[in-house]
Amino acid sequence: MARLRVIFESGEPERVIEFSPSKAPFQHDGQPGSILDVLLGHGINLEHACGGNCACTTCHVIVKTGFNKLSEAEEREEDLLDRAPGLTPTSRLGCQAVIVDEDAEIVVVVPRYTINQQVAESR
Ligand code: FES
Repeated sequence: MARLRVIFESGEPERVIEFSPSKAPFQHDGQPGSILDVLLGHGINLEHACGGNCACTTCHVIVKTGFNKLSEAEEREEDLLDRAPGLTPTSRLGCQAVIVDEDAEIVVVVPRYTINQQVAESR
């Protein structure tokens, strides 16, 4: 079983999900087995304005543990991430980062701000 721990900068209580990556997809948005897929499929919301199609940055997460247990980022993801507020060296798009290891221990932080929220708050 893989474990995914999610810490929300917004202050929401953190969540831990245990799941089997081989059972992916867990729902229909994002890459099967991606962080977004796992979260949505377990009733935990992560913004995904483009529907998990690698066309926005609202699903930005910062990987604290287990970065090397995720699929490698493709160029399109890297390009989009450059526009994500609060980018870090271990940032990923939740809809593209697929958990590939059956025994992965992943810890991610969901940043407080996404581009959607920044636009909303600057109005
Ligand atoms: S949901 Fe839009 S890039 Fe991930």
